[in-house]
Amino acid sequence: VIDIRKLYGQTGKFTYDPGFLSTASCQSSITYIDGDKGELLYRGYPIEQLAVNCDYLEVCYLLLYGELPNAEQKAAFDNRVTSHTMINEQMQFFLRGFRRDAHPMAILTGLVGGLSAFYHDSTDINNPEHRDVAAIRLIAKLPTLVAVAYKYGIGAPYMYPQNNLSYAGNFLRMMFGNPCEDYKVNPVLERAMDRIFILHADHEQNASTSTVRLCGSSGTNPFAAIAAGVACLWGPSHGGANEACLNMLEHIQANGGIAKAGEFMKQVKDKNSGVKLMGFGHRVYKNYDPRAKLMQETCNEVLAELGLEKDPLFALAKQLEKIALEDDYFVQRKLYPNVDFYSGIVQRAIGIPVNLFTGIFTLARTVGWIAQLNEMISDPEYKIGRPRQLFTGHATRNVQPIDQR
Ligand code: ACO
Repeated sequence: VIDIRKLYGQTGKFTYDPGFLSTASCQSSITYIDGDKGELLYRGYPIEQLAVNCDYLEVCYLLLYGELPNAEQKAAFDNRVTSHTMINEQMQFFLRGFRRDAHPMAILTGLVGGLSAFYHDSTDINNPEHRDVAAIRLIAKLPTLVAVAYKYGIGAPYMYPQNNLSYAGNFLRMMFGNPCEDYKVNPVLERAMDRIFILHADHEQNASTSTVRLCGSSGTNPFAAIAAGVACLWGPSHGGANEACLNMLEHIQANGGIAKAGEFMKQVKDKNSGVKLMGFGHRVYKNYDPRAKLMQETCNEVLAELGLEKDPLFALAKQLEKIALEDDYFVQRKLYPNVDFYSGIVQRAIGIPVNLFTGIFTLARTVGWIAQLNEMISDPEYKIGRPRQLFTGHATRNVQPIDQR
């Protein structure tokens, strides 16, 4: 705690807390994490129970409105979401402005922000009805946006949403279907996709959620605030970790594979190497991330369904985990697998390209961002976010004429 009177002659105190390691930026009743126990609750419900008993849209309803829906509420909500799955045809012109080899996150950052140019009836962040319609639109359109970003990149025709399918089934069809033949949704892959969405739906005040809150606190429109979250999620220390993790596994595989796992771990422990074990460690979890356990289970199911039980990357990941769990470096620092450690292997098996992993995370996390944004704006005490700084630059000095500098 710093006495700012000594610094600036102002009254009061503030805390200097780089990276906000011990600063609560808000009160929230949405998601609870006990990092020591490895516990994650959405609105009080353990993630393990939600992952087994609910589908993603039920979880969306829970995060947005505070309670799980009954059958009637669920049907009405599903119906509302599916009636907004199309994107405006004009969006295609926007999409065509991108290079084909653009990273999907670059495209998504643009497209999500661009939604605010299309829906003038849902851009007033202070109007609860506008926020609610924006929430439904974002949840409904994100799978379509992710799928068109993918299809654009490979030069394939877009698939329009098919609303008699489940949320996850529709996404799989838009990704992997083509207009010339019927697409049959594989129920194991559909369930796996849905589980990936559930496990990524919210995670309290992480970097991207805090970004959405800070951005939204200026009164900008909900689509712009969510686009800020997309940009933040892209980074390899956050949502980009699953992509970085799979790249790491592929790199080890290409350089000797499982036999070289021990050698790689030595590099990870060498601080001068700059190498991290991606998919390991977490700011809040100092125990096994409960989502990683569920993801490992899903990984087993998907690989068995696709006849890929002997997938060398899965074996390699399990070996790296085994080494880490028995190694003092990791034990002392309480570094355990996070959700990203196994999610990349599942997504790769489903056929999702590595550079789209963070896009899938974006799709799933959108509901969490909106729920958090709603919670902030609904609080009568909310204020524009404005962190302070400890100024370390020059004292006042005079500008010299250019010929005397
Ligand atoms: N590999 C090797 N060492 C690690 C790792 C890792 N993955 N993670 C942390 N450490 C070490 C640090 O070097 C540090 O060591 P030191 O005490 O000797 O200096 C110690 O463990 C503490 O780590 P911090 O970086 O201080 O922890 P922080 O809470 O700031 O960072 C983070 C958490 C960013 C997630 C980090 O663990 C990391 O970079 N992990 C790899 C990337 C990753 O998987 N990110 C996904 C996070 S989950 C998500 O966004 C869905």
